[in-house]
Amino acid sequence: MKLLNETAVRAACSQPAAPLQFSNRTQVRSALPTWSVEQIQAEIQRIAQLPLTQATTLPSQAYTSQEFFDWEVDHIFRNDWLPLAHVSQVPNIGDFLNIDLLGEPLIVVRSKEGRVRVLSRICPHRAMDIMPEGFGYSGHGIGDAKEGQPGCGHARLFMCPYHAWTFELDGRLKGSPEMQQTEGFERDSWGLKEFHCEVWNGFIMVNLDGKAAPLNERLVGLSEALKPWNIGEMKMAIQMEWDCPFNWKVLAENFMESYHHLGAHSKTLQPMMPAKTTWNEEERAAYIRAHLPLKPAMREEMQQAEARGEHVHGMPTIEDMAPELRYEWNLFLVYPYLLMSANPDRVIFYRMQPLGPDRMKLLTTTLVPASTMEHPEWPTMLENETARLRDFHLEDMEVCTAVQRGFYASGYQRGRLSYLEMSVWLIQRYAAARIRGTLPATDMPPAPAQKH
Ligand code: FES
Ligand SMILES: [Fe+2]
Repeated sequence: MKLLNETAVRAACSQPAAPLQFSNRTQVRSALPTWSVEQIQAEIQRIAQLPLTQATTLPSQAYTSQEFFDWEVDHIFRNDWLPLAHVSQVPNIGDFLNIDLLGEPLIVVRSKEGRVRVLSRICPHRAMDIMPEGFGYSGHGIGDAKEGQPGCGHARLFMCPYHAWTFELDGRLKGSPEMQQTEGFERDSWGLKEFHCEVWNGFIMVNLDGKAAPLNERLVGLSEALKPWNIGEMKMAIQMEWDCPFNWKVLAENFMESYHHLGAHSKTLQPMMPAKTTWNEEERAAYIRAHLPLKPAMREEMQQAEARGEHVHGMPTIEDMAPELRYEWNLFLVYPYLLMSANPDRVIFYRMQPLGPDRMKLLTTTLVPASTMEHPEWPTMLENETARLRDFHLEDMEVCTAVQRGFYASGYQRGRLSYLEMSVWLIQRYAAARIRGTLPATDMPPAPAQKH
C-alpha cells in the first residue's frame, strides 16, 4: 500500500518537531455552496434529532468551513478540557515538555511542589516565545534539553532568550534585569500565564478559557470503569507524530466506529474483531464507549495458550485484568477529542492539535505498565508493536485523507449510516448539544446501549 502523509514516525520527542502554526488555510477550492455558521448549526440540530435508523452524515461544510471551525475553537475546544500529555512524560520536578495548542505555545512542567502545571511560553515582556524551536535550553546554564529531544527537558528555571528575564517553574517572574527605572513595575504581576490543568487518570488536561467545570468530577463514572488499566501508573512506550490534512471530526468518527474494519482494516483488524460484533454502550454526557470483542475462535485459542503459560497479546496481559476485558478492545472518546483504545495489554492514546478545518497534528501514543517494559523480551515487543501501530494507523490515515478531499466535491451529497456507526451519530448529538450550550443526555433522553 502506498503510504500517504506520514511526516514522522519516531520514538517520543526524539527529533525536533516542526513549529506548529495555527492555520486558517483552506487548500482546496470547494465545489459546495458556502453555508453560514448558523446554517451548519441548524442542520446539525435537525439531524441530531433523528434516530440512528434514520441517521445521515453531517453536511460537508461542517468539515470544511473556516467560520464553523472558528466557532468550534471557541465553543468546543477552548471552553473544555483538552489532552496534552501523560504524567509519565514529566515524572520529576523540573521536567517539562513544549506543545502548541490552538495558537497557544505551552509548557507542561512539574513545578517545585510536585504539581503538574501548564504555562504559556509567551514572555510577558515583549511576547517572545521563551523556548523557540532550535534555541535549545542548555545554553543558558539553567536547565538542560534532554539529549536528542528538543521540546522537552529538565529545567531549574526558565529564561527568556530575548532580554533574559527568568521565571520559576510555577511561572512566577524571578529576575528582570534593568527594570528599576520602570515606574510601577511589580515583579509579582509579570509571570508566565498559567492555564487551568487537571490530571485525570494520568492524562494531563488543559482548559484554555479557565471556565470549564472540574473534569475529575464529570468523569467519576469513567474513572471507575478504567480502574483495571491503572493508566496513571503506565509509562509511555511509543509516540508517533502525524501531519493530518483532515478535520478533527473525521478522525474522531473514524477512530470510534468499527464498521470500517470491513474495508480499511480488512486484513488487520477485521480478522480479529469483526465489525458486526462491535457494539456501543448507552449515550453519556461526557464520553462514548464502544466494545470490540475478539472473535470467539481466537478467544478460545488464547485461553488455551494462557493455560500453557504463554502471553497471548502482543505484550503481557495487564495484571488482574477483569475476565470480561481480557478478550476485547474498548474504545473511548472523552469529549471533545481524547481518544483511547484500552486493550488487555496496553492503552493507545491519541491527542489532536487542530490547526484549521482541514488540518491538524496528531500524536499517537502507546502506554504500557512499567512491568511490561522490564520484560526480557521488551525490545522485540517494542519493535513489533511499533510496526503494528504504524501499519494499522496508516490504513486510517489513508481513508481520512481521502474522505476530507471528498467533502469538497460536488459528487458527494450526504450519506446514510449503518447501525455499526452509532459512535458517528453520538458525535453528531454531542455537536448538537454544544450548539445548544449543553451536553448530550442532559436535556434529551440518552440513547440506549446496543444489544450485544
Ligand atoms: S521578551 Fe522576554 S525578556 Fe524581553
Ligand atoms: Fe481504523
